[in-house]
Amino acid sequence: MHKKDPSTTAQARRNIVVNPPGPASRDLASRLAVIECPEVTCLEDDFPIFWERARGVCVEDVDGNTYLDLTAAFAVAGVGHCHPRVVNAIVRQAPKLIHGMGDVHPTGLKVALAERLTALAPGDLGLPIFSSSGAEAVESARKTCAVATGRQGLVAFTGAYHGLTYGALEATDRDHFRAQFAGQWAGQVHRVPYPYCYRCPLERRSPDCRWACLEPVRALLEDPPDGHDRPGGVLIEPVQGRGGTIVPPPEYLERLRHLCDRFDVLLVFDEVFTGFGRTGAWFAADRFGVVPDVMAVGKSLGGGMPISACLGRPGAMRSWGRSTGEAVHTSTFLGHPLACAAALATLDVLEEERLPARAKTLGETLLRRLEVLQATYPGTVGDVRGVGLMAGLELVEDPVTREPASTLASALVKAGLREGLILLQEGPRGNVIGITPPLVIGSAELEDAITIIGALLDRLAPSPGP
Ligand SMILES: Cc1ncc(COP(=O)(O)O)c(C=O)c1O
Repeated sequence: MHKKDPSTTAQARRNIVVNPPGPASRDLASRLAVIECPEVTCLEDDFPIFWERARGVCVEDVDGNTYLDLTAAFAVAGVGHCHPRVVNAIVRQAPKLIHGMGDVHPTGLKVALAERLTALAPGDLGLPIFSSSGAEAVESARKTCAVATGRQGLVAFTGAYHGLTYGALEATDRDHFRAQFAGQWAGQVHRVPYPYCYRCPLERRSPDCRWACLEPVRALLEDPPDGHDRPGGVLIEPVQGRGGTIVPPPEYLERLRHLCDRFDVLLVFDEVFTGFGRTGAWFAADRFGVVPDVMAVGKSLGGGMPISACLGRPGAMRSWGRSTGEAVHTSTFLGHPLACAAALATLDVLEEERLPARAKTLGETLLRRLEVLQATYPGTVGDVRGVGLMAGLELVEDPVTREPASTLASALVKAGLREGLILLQEGPRGNVIGITPPLVIGSAELEDAITIIGALLDRLAPSPGP
């Protein structure tokens, strides 16, 4: 049990003292507008706010407004922002050693984190390759498939988000990110549909609908396109995050596992978003009872510090061979001491505060509350779905055509800010409101957030016709 209910320990609650973005945020926005590559930060009259500090579930902006963070800052702050244990680990480590020589003269922290991750990972996954970002962990996973199987091809899914470095981007599926670079790849990624029941033409839960979405994978593995070998890996997010919080139907992943076994192809889970308690278990692999061959993790691993890893089955990871002095795949910050110290503290917090179990219980309440919202606004909330504290509300213009209501979603996120809620739009059309709070969110805070979202829908959603 928790020593304390995190809702009672939250430092601050929603408190808007000046309409956001306030003057200090607007001033910073005008400076940033002329000094940063303009493509990076979207600067509008009513967006964004600039963050000053954060603790637990609460974020304070530079104008003194406080917000409930329903995003965990891209699902990173699983243990909450600036968890005291993580802060202490950083403060203790920083004077000793901030940066080392990760693959040449490593630290004990790298050893300890590798041991800890191996103990926590599903099945016999281990032998990590550390890195700093989620995309890098995906790059390691992609390369591991090629090294272990000798085959370069990869199966990836529609709606996938695996990051924006080249290898990961080839597997990511969104024109917005890819269009300007598409000519630079060798065409080794084969795209198949992600099981997205809400937008599937087959009747939901009809007897054989589930496995129709596996058919393209089977066909591709059995009979690769002309000029291609059988792919070496199938890369999937066990729950799609940025693609719109899409939960595959029961047994889908199990059947995908069987297909990969049958065709001797590595199954890779991108758990960068779903890892470390988010779905109500340590990993989505545990939640769904399916062990992949390779797994990429990142985001919440470091409690806010940038650190990621690729783990795999011993045979796959050992296929890289032994380093003879110049690692074939490494990076300057691999096994970064400060990030490793923060990650070890983060894992302690997750374990001691039993946050994966907490996410499971709270997630069930959250989903029930979202279902009530859907029943109240059937013309606008087309679908609600989630697992653990990873939930989404899909907003539509019309429940029959299911046309994405992107403008409404954007208005809701901005209006949410003015009510003290930080939300993000998800999905290729931005019409899914993602709800992925820190796992330490209190039930009262979660309830408060849902009430506000309801009030915002009430205000912004078109009223039903006569
Ligand atoms: C599933 C998944 N994989 C990979 C990434 C890329 O991580 P990063 O932005 O740290 O490179 C993300 C980021 O959102 C993600 O959600």
